[in-house]
Amino acid sequence: MSDGLFLTLEGIDGAGKSSHLDAMEALFKARGRTVVRTREPGGTPLAEILRGLILEQPMDPLTESLLVFAARRDHVVRVIEPALARGDVVLCDRFTDATFAYQGAGRDFDTQVLSTLEQWVQGGRGAAGLLQPHVTLWFDLAPEIAAQRLAGARLPDKFESQPVEFFRRVAAGYAARAVADAPRFVRIDASQTRDQVWQQVETALVARGALAPESGAAR
Ligand code: TMP
Repeated sequence: MSDGLFLTLEGIDGAGKSSHLDAMEALFKARGRTVVRTREPGGTPLAEILRGLILEQPMDPLTESLLVFAARRDHVVRVIEPALARGDVVLCDRFTDATFAYQGAGRDFDTQVLSTLEQWVQGGRGAAGLLQPHVTLWFDLAPEIAAQRLAGARLPDKFESQPVEFFRRVAAGYAARAVADAPRFVRIDASQTRDQVWQQVETALVARGALAPESGAAR
């Protein structure tokens, strides 16, 4: 994968992850890296169309999972893998951990099926194994606080309008993923102030080798 770097941000709706994307992009660019900033569901014209359906249309959890992974396949093939092959930094707002958290835990869907889809979509890379982020920043926030932050922010989509109990399950899903893949995950305490959260993000990127401690090339 040359020295491309694949970073993802995860967390329940309202955890504040997306507000740090600008600063992360600027940080890597200041170190001379080319940054591809993207999101899921989405990131390609086709995947953005699927995003609209996933976020707005009622559907059963299998349909939702198939659409999320269809969007992901297009995104991986057209955007993520080429960027990593070029040596770019891919900064992705959500990836497969969100599927295990939202569809798996939140909607109580079969995680064996999700694992199979993950293999199909992120596998097939021979010795390189399953495509996974190098580092995943998990913005962890109590669902009650996230709901307060979201209240009145904008018209809620299908997921944002779920009850707090749904987000308790999603949060538990993220916690389980973090335990299962501890070397990849960094827990960010998103209850702190914005500046403190940013400090945690920078520290985590350095600690996980994604960013050199002082000026010079990131990995
Ligand atoms: P965003 O608002 O952070 O862009 O995320 C879009 C919504 O889609 C968010 O509520 C989480 C949800 N989602 C899933 O349910 N499954 C997935 O695999 C992904 C990537 C997002």
